[in-house]
Amino acid sequence: MRHLMSPLDFTVDELDKLFDLAGDIEKNPDNYARKCEGKKLATCFYEPSTRTRLSFEAAMYNLGGHVIGFSDASSSSATKGESVSDTIRMISCYADICAMRHPKEGAPMVASTKSKIPVINAGDGGHQHPTQTLTDLLTIRSLKGRLDNFTIGLCGDLKFGRTVHSLIHALVRYENIRFVFISPDELRIPDYVTEMLHEKGISYQEVIRLEDVMGDLDLLYMTRVQRERFFNEEDYVRLKDFYILNKEKMELAKPDMLVLHPLPRVNEISVEVDDDERAVYFKQVQYGVYVRMALILTLLELV
Ligand code: CP
Repeated sequence: MRHLMSPLDFTVDELDKLFDLAGDIEKNPDNYARKCEGKKLATCFYEPSTRTRLSFEAAMYNLGGHVIGFSDASSSSATKGESVSDTIRMISCYADICAMRHPKEGAPMVASTKSKIPVINAGDGGHQHPTQTLTDLLTIRSLKGRLDNFTIGLCGDLKFGRTVHSLIHALVRYENIRFVFISPDELRIPDYVTEMLHEKGISYQEVIRLEDVMGDLDLLYMTRVQRERFFNEEDYVRLKDFYILNKEKMELAKPDMLVLHPLPRVNEISVEVDDDERAVYFKQVQYGVYVRMALILTLLELV
């Protein structure tokens, strides 16, 4: 039995197979419409979500399966003090696979050690968000045709952004990727990430102004400054509108640069950018359903 805690849980070859499967699901959805008949997915979300929870649920329904779960810790027995270890023991009796989001780093990992069913980390605190990374990689592969040889700018909250941490760890396994980290000093990429890049001999640059590097990028990964990760409101208010990607800045970019964003967005991408064909963050959402369908089938060994 396999779980998914980090994008590194799959080898590059296994990821290629997963993305090929997602591509086939996109082209031939009817071939997969009954693959999960009689199977149940549990979505255990201790932290708010729109995309991840609903795309998991849509994925399971698209495969002909069923969904149970909770979307709010306050409606679960966590409020009575139940641990995730005990909860997953119950869920193992009710469902065939579980997607878990939790505000505490490592909580889905703890659950996986007690689980009798595959557990998927659907985001744990500021740590990892592997299924967002699968979504990001599938989007890049589908729209650029490759996962190597590009310069990617990651912009915004690089300190607490779990989507950023997961994506960097996944991308370092591909050839000739250059990273440009764009953030205010307070939200710089953590040292453990840059140490990992040093160890692997991978080049990166850290800058504060987006305008200074816009023309160098093949991909721009925008992120939200996350109110829920700040210890005080004053710092959040000071930093929340530090970056706003608008039409003017897009004019500095290459004609084929793609803008990705895990969403939700607040102000960091102006709505006027949505009509630019290089803005692919809503296409990214659709790829998230295909890749989660492929992941469910793979972890349930139905392919
Ligand atoms: N991208 C993402 O994780 O969105 P949600 O928080 O809405 O699930």
